[in-house]
Amino acid sequence: MELHRQAEAFKARGVALLKEGKIEEARRLLLIAAEKFEKAAEFSEGIAKELRLKEAEWCRRLAEGKELSVSPKAVGAVREEASEVSGGGEAKVEREEKGEFARIKQYIRENLMVRAKEKLPSWDEIGGLEDVKKLLKKAYVIGAIEKKPPAVSSWNAILLYGPPGTGKTMLAAAVAKSLDAAFFDVKVSQLLSKYYGETPKIISALFEVAREEAPSVIFIDEFDAIALSRSGDLDEETRRALSTLLAEMDGLSSKSSPFVLVIAATNTPEALDKAILSRFGRKIEIPLPDYEACKEIIRIHTEKKGIPLEDESLYDELARYCVERKMSGRDIKFMCIEAIWNMIEEMNPGLERLAEEPYERIRKYELKTRALKKEDFKIKETR
Ligand SMILES: Nc1ncnc2c1ncn2[C@@H]1O[C@H](COP(=O)(O)OP(=O)(O)OP(=O)(O)O)[C@@H](O)[C@H]1O
Ligand SMILES: [Mg+2]
Repeated sequence: MELHRQAEAFKARGVALLKEGKIEEARRLLLIAAEKFEKAAEFSEGIAKELRLKEAEWCRRLAEGKELSVSPKAVGAVREEASEVSGGGEAKVEREEKGEFARIKQYIRENLMVRAKEKLPSWDEIGGLEDVKKLLKKAYVIGAIEKKPPAVSSWNAILLYGPPGTGKTMLAAAVAKSLDAAFFDVKVSQLLSKYYGETPKIISALFEVAREEAPSVIFIDEFDAIALSRSGDLDEETRRALSTLLAEMDGLSSKSSPFVLVIAATNTPEALDKAILSRFGRKIEIPLPDYEACKEIIRIHTEKKGIPLEDESLYDELARYCVERKMSGRDIKFMCIEAIWNMIEEMNPGLERLAEEPYERIRKYELKTRALKKEDFKIKETR
């Protein structure tokens, strides 16, 4: 039997014994379960690994709890509570015992979903890409409209492709924000598990949570890892993952399905399988920023955050520099962060001496700032 299945069996037996009040034996089995979950985690990656570590931790806490009380609940679900007295504070271990699928769902809901609008970027934090923004807005508006003629089909799946750091993740998050939708941010590598049959379960769980939380945006990064054109290169589990994913995506286009938008991203669209590419209603290129976009991105990461540049011509000069060097939005952001840091160091000499002061004094210190000069950017001279 596979390790994690053995662990499940030990855990189930341990929990059952706890309910019977056979505490010592229960603890012994729960500790074995914990060890097996930890071992299984060593051989796992992504979500599967995280789940195993959580299971191990839970088994351990249950086994080592100073007091244990187990109260069986109706509907087969059981809640175990253990009070732990640690360093005077009291921590409670509380959990619903659920099936594997339900636990995967719970993990996804708790760890991969962002609901809070304020944690997501808005459209105006994304510089340039005006046409892309318009297209995405149209796509989700059409998708969200409930009553439309049968001939009007919505794009439930959109592919964003282009070089790293150009704003693909941000765009997907901005769609979620403006729809006030649940945002699921996953990488293909998080979904894959080496254990037979687990990957399709994780993928289906992801889509089920998304439907339950609809409207939702599922952002799948590193899409090429699952959809290479030379499918001979894919191992069996990845191939199975792909067919589950495609089946789930097909399911979304049915009229009765709640609104779930899949946005996939890749840096290498040319590597993608043609048949898979055709599943995406829209394939949108996200290029490196042009001159105007660079200027806007510089503004977003300086002026709009309270530190402007000294004069307008510096924006022009820096934007030219960024285009020449084929910098991405991410590169530009780091360039700005560095310049701001240089300015802060110059304006506040001996800042490290403050470290000697009490926290309250440090907290009250007012940083001196000024507009950014060309020297702060420490850029090499442009021709
Ligand atoms: N157009 C942009 N406007 C403003 N900031 C940007 C832009 N593009 C990138 N950035 C900055 O770079 C960071 C990285 O962007 P993002 O993660 O969206 O890129 P990506 O295209 O998803 O990259 P990767 O392909 O590496 O995943 C963002 O958090 C943002 O701060
Ligand atoms: Mg990204």
